[in-house]
Amino acid sequence: METQLLSAGFRFSTLPPSYVRPEPDRPKLLEVADYHNAPIIDLGCADRTFIVQQIAQACQNYGFFQVINHGVLKEVVEKMLEVANEFFHLPVEEKMKLYSNDPSKTTRLSTSSNPPKEKIHNWRDYLRLHVHPLDKYAKEWPTNPTSFREIVGNYCVEIRQLGLRLQELISESLGLDKEYMNKTLGEQGQHMAINYYPPCPEPELTYGLPAHTDPNTLTILLQDTKVAGLQLLKDGKWLAVKPFPNAFVVNLGDQLQALSNSKYKSSWHRAVVNTHHARISVASFLCPSNTAVIKAPKELIGDESQGIYRDYKYAEYYDKFWSRNLDQGHCLELFKNI
Ligand code: OGA
Ligand code: NI
Repeated sequence: METQLLSAGFRFSTLPPSYVRPEPDRPKLLEVADYHNAPIIDLGCADRTFIVQQIAQACQNYGFFQVINHGVLKEVVEKMLEVANEFFHLPVEEKMKLYSNDPSKTTRLSTSSNPPKEKIHNWRDYLRLHVHPLDKYAKEWPTNPTSFREIVGNYCVEIRQLGLRLQELISESLGLDKEYMNKTLGEQGQHMAINYYPPCPEPELTYGLPAHTDPNTLTILLQDTKVAGLQLLKDGKWLAVKPFPNAFVVNLGDQLQALSNSKYKSSWHRAVVNTHHARISVASFLCPSNTAVIKAPKELIGDESQGIYRDYKYAEYYDKFWSRNLDQGHCLELFKNI
């Protein structure tokens, strides 16, 4: 039986058992402090060298950063959040037309993370779309709301520009040529997860998304402006990253950890839920092309005979990631050189 969509209009008064985490694996929300010194990088700054320095520091010490003055129009962002909200408020029959648990589908609505593989589910529904090239994929996207394709398409194009620009800055911050990442990662894919976390009767017992790192290269996350829920791990402690006005959160993914020979680490993050408010987030994932070979350049391997990870094609990593569930440990560990 397929797992039930949460955004079906039914308000649960207790958490269904298949969502309840065992005691040691609960979010302990009262222990989570705010992430006061989460790095914020002003991309509008005229001093490029300064931006690169800040990115180097943030990537090395945090694995993530927030960007402001990033060039994505405010109106485009606002419309994206609005249409996401409208989509998840459509009647459940309408949404179910798009439902699938098959990760190879390029447009699908699903719930939790990977329902066929997991024992405990997560308090989330999500619409997952491949978005690049736009003219290949947009024709598969929902037509209800009627403005969906246009609004999401505009958003994705702007986010891609930002992502490619960030990868130039990150390449430079690693001491590599500015074009290094964008050249070696091939014709990069771009996926999107529009996440919807409904109000949850018992948020202490479950997650919207449990601790994970993203399997791709770079993730640009747009948070709901009003409802917090993203938490990041810093020195063994979970900290809450409140939405910052007009900012995106940029998370380093596993491919950045691999190609930087672990100089930069992918960021461990999770999403928690709350009793009263639904929360929306929009994650844009830049991914290497399926045939790109992921390996660290000599400059980052130094005198060692080999890098920390073996060379592999991105398609192999992606398949491995989706064959598992988020509670099974870090996928990148499976790609270490012995
Ligand atoms: C994700 C993710 C966090 C959030 O979609 O991979 O980590 O705040 N989302 O929704
Ligand atoms: Ni994530």
